[in-house]
Amino acid sequence: MALERIDKIIASRTAYSRREVKELIKKGAVRLDGSLVLSPDQKLDPVLQSVEIDGKRLFYEKYSYLMLNKPQGYVSATRDGKEKTVLALLSPEWQSRKLFPAGRLDKDTTGFVLLTDDGAFAHDILAPKHHVPKVYHLTAQRAVSAAERRQMEEGMMLDGQKLLGAKLRLLDQESCRYEIILQQGLYHQIKRMFAATGNQVLTLHRVAIGGVFLDPDLAEGQYRHLTGQEVNTIKNSRENL
Ligand code: URA
Repeated sequence: MALERIDKIIASRTAYSRREVKELIKKGAVRLDGSLVLSPDQKLDPVLQSVEIDGKRLFYEKYSYLMLNKPQGYVSATRDGKEKTVLALLSPEWQSRKLFPAGRLDKDTTGFVLLTDDGAFAHDILAPKHHVPKVYHLTAQRAVSAAERRQMEEGMMLDGQKLLGAKLRLLDQESCRYEIILQQGLYHQIKRMFAATGNQVLTLHRVAIGGVFLDPDLAEGQYRHLTGQEVNTIKNSRENL
């Protein structure tokens, strides 16, 4: 895990602003691995090091939630006989934590994979009845016609199953780039939807889950903690039907 500034870390995990964190440090209220922190630009590894504010440990969390920017060529599984899994992108410390991907992207799909060890959370956001929205950007082989768009938005038939409506938005006409928002996550769903209309998905990238967008600062293969606020945003995006 990359080292990060302590003031930034504390501000992203608590209600304190960066300015308030600086004040706490000045007051001598912040300790890193037991030693007094003297400067807000002190760097730390939030996975391996422990921060205390007024004697209270900041990083004790029962569960972990990571946002990973998945490159092509990795399967969304914890183990696979042949292929590299997304867990291979994590540091050895994280690999020993028993995280798993909450939802699958195909091997050639890139973008936001959520890794967690919180089984109830994963179950909740994946449950079809909760309709947690997932946003993808894709390049199609050809433009989608008005009739095909209507079919997708109204909920098309796929292998005898009526799908929930998907929202489709044109991003760039020339390169046939679209945004699509799904409320369910069936196997190869987007590729199969396009194939059913005689079209083909050439590239597919997930940009958001449950209202939380992939951090543009994460290069492919990089990951970071979700903030508490982001975890809550995803939880609150569930529909209780
Ligand atoms: N739909 C697909 O076809 N593939 C993915 O990876 C995700 C959604």
